[in-house]
Amino acid sequence: MKNQQNPSRAVFATRIGAIATTVGSAVGLGNIWRFPYEAGIHGGGAFLLLYIAFIIILGIPVLSAEFALGKITHKGVSGAFRTLRPGTPWRHFGIIAVICGIMILSFYSVVAGWTLEYTYEAAVGSLSDNEMSLHTAFDDFTSGWRPIMWTLLFLALNYTVISRGVQKGIERFSNILTPILFLLIIAFCINSLMLPGAEEGLKFLFSPDFSKITPQVVIGALGQAFFSLSLGMGTMLTYASYFNERTQVARNATITAALDTLIAIMAGVLIFPAVFTFSIEPAEGPRLVFEVLPVVFSKLPGGDIWGVLFFFMLFLASLTSTISMCEIIVAWLIEERKMRRSQASILTIAIAMLLGILCALSFSILPGIRLPFIGEPNVFRWFDYTSSNILLPLGGLLISVFTGWILDRRIVAHALTDRNSRRAHLACRLIIFSLRWVAPPMIAIIFILNL
Ligand code: PHE
Repeated sequence: MKNQQNPSRAVFATRIGAIATTVGSAVGLGNIWRFPYEAGIHGGGAFLLLYIAFIIILGIPVLSAEFALGKITHKGVSGAFRTLRPGTPWRHFGIIAVICGIMILSFYSVVAGWTLEYTYEAAVGSLSDNEMSLHTAFDDFTSGWRPIMWTLLFLALNYTVISRGVQKGIERFSNILTPILFLLIIAFCINSLMLPGAEEGLKFLFSPDFSKITPQVVIGALGQAFFSLSLGMGTMLTYASYFNERTQVARNATITAALDTLIAIMAGVLIFPAVFTFSIEPAEGPRLVFEVLPVVFSKLPGGDIWGVLFFFMLFLASLTSTISMCEIIVAWLIEERKMRRSQASILTIAIAMLLGILCALSFSILPGIRLPFIGEPNVFRWFDYTSSNILLPLGGLLISVFTGWILDRRIVAHALTDRNSRRAHLACRLIIFSLRWVAPPMIAIIFILNL
């Protein structure tokens, strides 16, 4: 189907297609790897509560804003700002998006590489099955050369997809994949709920201890909300440029946010009972999921099969997310730097490979360089922290100001919904209210508190 204003731009054929694609970008390592590790570091329940609050108060409005900008302009990040406010500095928004995108792509690919290693290990039956040996196995693995190999392989795979512009195929794939991943997680959750440590795990995740809330926890939850919804760097804006006139933005944003959050919470329900059953430290950091899941699988009948299935699905879910990041960078290079698609793809992947190697090496030989913002001298964590907790919320702040204050309110309201019901009007008013009066000051205050 073609879109009417700009006939050369394809649009999503179905309502479900539009939602499935945005969910495909949102659901990935952010839900299943990053959420449990961040929640583990930041004390569980209090973090979850803040995270959900941020999704509702900021996530849904900013997601709606990105959707609205894409739907109004039918353009990618820089094109959208250029069309709506030509000749103003807003067109430079794309630069933040590109820097942030390349940083996320670099460390994310390392973790996607870990999922490939664990798929392989499970397939050949060499994944160890007890918590102690898994801890050392992770150290042995990440201090060797294999993480680099997997990172490069994963990025090369991204290259083959984006350079040919065959994302559509992958997207169709992800429409089938996301529901399967969902079912697998439900099955594993049920299994986790029967573990002896289930009660303790659920208590850790669901009963908030407010004394644990520090500025670090608040910014961690804010960053997680943005990261998990792929917000703040124009990914969702770009996808929404394929929405058709009748797409209900506010409703799509709510559904996407709800599904994404549900999957993150389910990942928590899967991980934390096991953490407490097998006496693993919840604050293990990025390695948490890779130490917990193999033990869980090993206790199931047919253990390795589950391992292969789950890690492979996780790898595919990562691929749909990284493709959406690559697309931002590649589209920017094509539009702003007048590159050909093939050149833009090579450049993007080459930079990500170099930075990805640095991230992979932070678990082994890279010396402890002190970096701003974070306590630990770890390049991987620095990329993760700076992009998710600083650049994405900053992008979200700019998007809120632009949509809430600079654009004509009627245009925004019309893009959000064309329904005439009271519910639609109310949703519209709440979203615009947040974009003007809640999101910008709230993000700014959280930044200031952290300084
Ligand atoms: N939301 C993705 C995830 O949860 C990560 C992502 C961040 C994708 C930013 C695109 C842009 O895995």
